[in-house]
Amino acid sequence: MDDVKDTWWKQGIIYQIYPRSFQDSNGDGIGDLRGVLQRLDYLRWLGVRSLWLSPVYPSPNADFGYDISDYVNIDPVFGTLADFDALVDAVHARDMKLIMDLVPNHTSDQHPWFLESRSSRDNPKRDWYIWKDAREDGGYPNNWLSAFGGSAWEWDEKTGQFYYHAFDKAQPDLNWRNLEVQRAMFDVMRFWLDRGVDGFRVDVMWHLIKDEQFRDNPVNPDYQPHMSTFHQLLPLYSTDQPEVHDIVRKMRDVLETYDDRMIIGEIYLPIQQLVTYYGVDLKGVHLPFNFQLIVLPWDSMTISSSLVAYEAALPPQAWPNWVLSNHDKPRITSRVGIEQAAVAAMLLLTLRGTITLYYGDETGMRDVAVPVEQMVDPRGRNMPDKNLGRDPQRTPMQWDDSPKAGFTTGEPWLPIDRVSPQRNVAVQMDDPGSLLSLYRRLIYLRQKEKALMAGDVIPVYSDHQLISFVRAADETRFLIVLNLTHRPCYFKAETESFRGTTEVCTAGALEGTSVEGTIALEGDMGMIIRLEA
Ligand code: GLC
Repeated sequence: MDDVKDTWWKQGIIYQIYPRSFQDSNGDGIGDLRGVLQRLDYLRWLGVRSLWLSPVYPSPNADFGYDISDYVNIDPVFGTLADFDALVDAVHARDMKLIMDLVPNHTSDQHPWFLESRSSRDNPKRDWYIWKDAREDGGYPNNWLSAFGGSAWEWDEKTGQFYYHAFDKAQPDLNWRNLEVQRAMFDVMRFWLDRGVDGFRVDVMWHLIKDEQFRDNPVNPDYQPHMSTFHQLLPLYSTDQPEVHDIVRKMRDVLETYDDRMIIGEIYLPIQQLVTYYGVDLKGVHLPFNFQLIVLPWDSMTISSSLVAYEAALPPQAWPNWVLSNHDKPRITSRVGIEQAAVAAMLLLTLRGTITLYYGDETGMRDVAVPVEQMVDPRGRNMPDKNLGRDPQRTPMQWDDSPKAGFTTGEPWLPIDRVSPQRNVAVQMDDPGSLLSLYRRLIYLRQKEKALMAGDVIPVYSDHQLISFVRAADETRFLIVLNLTHRPCYFKAETESFRGTTEVCTAGALEGTSVEGTIALEGDMGMIIRLEA
């Protein structure tokens, strides 16, 4: 537990910024790096330690930054390399850390590497991407599907072959079996590490290596019509190949030549496969993103058993992590409702491991209904089911009650929630009963108390309404009791009688009161109780 004290990425909370939507500094309606810089003091006030910036590299924006046309520069819409350096300095001056998004699986189709690769079959960069002949009948090389709809293969008229794209056709996949590709991307990592970034969040890490024989993926027997068409097949051969771990290890080796840096891997896999990304001897990624609280239904029995299963699956000494929302999934407030969002915050911030917060969740920002004609996300635009679009969870941060929510003086690139005059940072900062104030109290308590930051987690009891567990270190013990439903319920410990004082409660007025024996909880109530020794 002691190494936690000295390890920033174990200790501190990560805050994800979607840069287009955080703060605009020049009135063009799109957030930028100077905007982030202006808001650093807010983030410090909130108590977070590190920032993860979704991509800010030059991009034609087929997938809003996740299609990169130059890995060693900043998109003019976000600013310049000098702005980036200023941001790194300002972050470090506040004893904070900066994590860059790294997108190594695919480039933009406008990246010079791909332009070369597609220029002729014998171009030296041809093998940097994944090119295949058509089948004899002219069909696709195999049945693999794109996560953004349709086949993952795109025909190139000029050179008479297909190229592979796991996502949009404007995002051709790199061939990570090619050593030159590996070297080029490791150089990219060094470029940013030399500039002072403290870590990377690596995009779609489990996609990096594909089956060498490009075998057809099997049909998914559990496919339901409401799912994305991508789930018609099980991505058995297109993702999570054993050789991916060699690549992860090499990325880690690059990092190890610097002091105190880290990698988070974006990996959507079942727990047993997920934890293999910690690597042999924990020399894989430092944190394979644990998306359980995002993908599981908000049901107390399901969540409590997944907490136990996750802890049990962790390799010895591996450090856990938790996250509630991100730019790809519906926001927590929209999934569970604004009242329950407070309970979700308490769950998140009392679990063991590194916590990642998604910008705006701390104020209860919700998914915004974006009119179809304003839809920009390729996943929404390309898929028959418009509900798969991700614009709703990417709308501008709600800073204050002004018409543009303090985000911009211009026209915002996505609509601002109509409730922003009531639900914003400024109004909640001064209100001790607000969600933002609750987040801050939770963050401060967690950062102050070793038991919450790093202590053991001991499940106590859960049923179809509540989850409870104890966090303990040395002599300090906290009992956390959470009602995951809107109906009142009782907590009664079966094996031990607890007595203590409510330290944080979703109903702030109850903080400081003593509790003992059976506790009556209101609907949507959660409490952290400091137990008597
Ligand atoms: C990751 C990103 C997502 C992007 C995709 C393709 O899942 O989080 O936003 O569309 O990769 O790069």
